[in-house]
Amino acid sequence: MSDLNRVETAYRRIGSRWAWNVVSFAGFQGWESSLRRRTVEHLELRHGDRVLDIACGRGSNFPHLQRAVGAQGHIVGVDYSATMLAGAKELIRRERWTNVEIVRGDAAETHFNAAFDGALCTVAMTVIPRWQDAMRRMIGAVQPGRRIAIMDGRLPTGLARAGLPFARFFSRIVAADLDRDVESECKKMLNNIREEVRMFGTYFIISGEGPSGV
Ligand SMILES: C[S@@+](CC[C@H](N)C(=O)[O-])C[C@H]1O[C@@H](n2cnc3c(N)ncnc32)[C@H](O)[C@@H]1O
Repeated sequence: MSDLNRVETAYRRIGSRWAWNVVSFAGFQGWESSLRRRTVEHLELRHGDRVLDIACGRGSNFPHLQRAVGAQGHIVGVDYSATMLAGAKELIRRERWTNVEIVRGDAAETHFNAAFDGALCTVAMTVIPRWQDAMRRMIGAVQPGRRIAIMDGRLPTGLARAGLPFARFFSRIVAADLDRDVESECKKMLNNIREEVRMFGTYFIISGEGPSGV
C-alpha cells in the first residue's frame, strides 16, 4: 500500500463527524480552539485576504480563518482524504459560507496559480507523506512578505515524557510521524521566524515568511 493510500485508509476510519470529534478531543485535550486561534493569529491576516489551508481536513480552521479574512476574503482548503473533505463541505453548507473553495489533491503535488496572503497547515505536516515538498509548495503559494504558519504535535520532553506512550499510540491512529523535525525544516525554509510551544511542550506553532522563489 502506498503512503498516500495509507493516509486515505486511516482518514476513512477516523474522518466521520463523531470519530473526528473523539480523535480531536483526545489529541488536543481541551486546547483545540486556542491552538487554532493562535495559529491563525500568526498569519496576521486582514479582512479581504486570500488564505490557503493545507491538508484542511474537515475544515476545523475555517471558523477562525473566517473571522480573520471576513466575508470579502477567500479561503482555499486542500486535502487528500475524500472522507475529511466531505466533512469540510458539510460545514461550508451548514454555515452558508460562499467564500470557501475545497480542492482534493496531494499537497505535495498541487500547484497554486494564485498568490495567497497567508497559508497554514495544522496537525498535518507530520502526516503528509512528502511533507517537505508540501511545505515548499505551500511557501511558494504565498506572496513575499506574508506569513506561513504550521502547528503540529511533537514528542514530549522533560516531565511530559510520561505521556510518550500515549503520544506514540495516538500518532499511529492519525497516521502521524512524530519523529519528523518539522520545526528545523521550517527554520531552514522560512525567514523572520516566530515560534511557541504549547500544551507542556507537546505542540508547537511556528511561522515565518517565505523567501521569494522557493
Ligand atoms: C490530523 S488531520 C488534520 C486536518 C486539519 N488540518 C486539522 O487541523 O484538523 C491530517 C490531514 O492531512 C491530510 N493529508 C495527509 N496527506 C495529505 C496529502 N499528501 N495531501 C493533502 N492532504 C493530506 C489528511 O487527509 C488529513 O485530513
